Amino acid sequence: MRNVLYPGSFDPLTNGHLDLIARASKLFDRVIVAVAINSEKHPMFSIEERVEMIGEACTAYPNVRAVPVCGLLVDAVEKYQATAILRGLRAFSDFEYELQMALMNRSLRDDCETIFMMPTTNNSFVSSRLVKEVAFLGADYTKYVPEPVAKRIAEKLENRKDK
Ligand code: PNS
Repeated sequence: MRNVLYPGSFDPLTNGHLDLIARASKLFDRVIVAVAINSEKHPMFSIEERVEMIGEACTAYPNVRAVPVCGLLVDAVEKYQATAILRGLRAFSDFEYELQMALMNRSLRDDCETIFMMPTTNNSFVSSRLVKEVAFLGADYTKYVPEPVAKRIAEKLENRKDK
């Protein structure tokens, strides 16, 4: 069994993330989408909401499941018996941050490999941060996220209006 751990904040899951999940699901027996806490970010969705949304968006991929992850990623690698960590690379600007994380994870755990995959070019500019920004500012965000995610964003925006 070859398992790959795909970690991230996924706040929320975008079409770029889904693109990577679809590619990885063909290469690995199991893809574990690890919804982690990024201590530098203030999330729009709770970890539970993010895990649920990924489950809803990935029904077409039976070998994909989403799990919440607390603490160190390398511990999740061991827990889920993953062969590697998967991260997406959209642009050159992602590289420095990704290199540091990959090397830190390998320093924490000797056999921890990180592999990188690129999304299709039409998803290469899509990020969770920009999706939230355009949504809050009233533009159409639905083309950047899977349908179940678009629905949840609409609900959040509606709740904000009520307050
Ligand atoms: O989608 P993001 O926000 O770029 O994902 C970053 C994430 C969650 C993968 C990263 O912050 C992380 O690995 N958090 C877990 C804590 C950890 O293991 N930190 C040390 C590894 S560099």
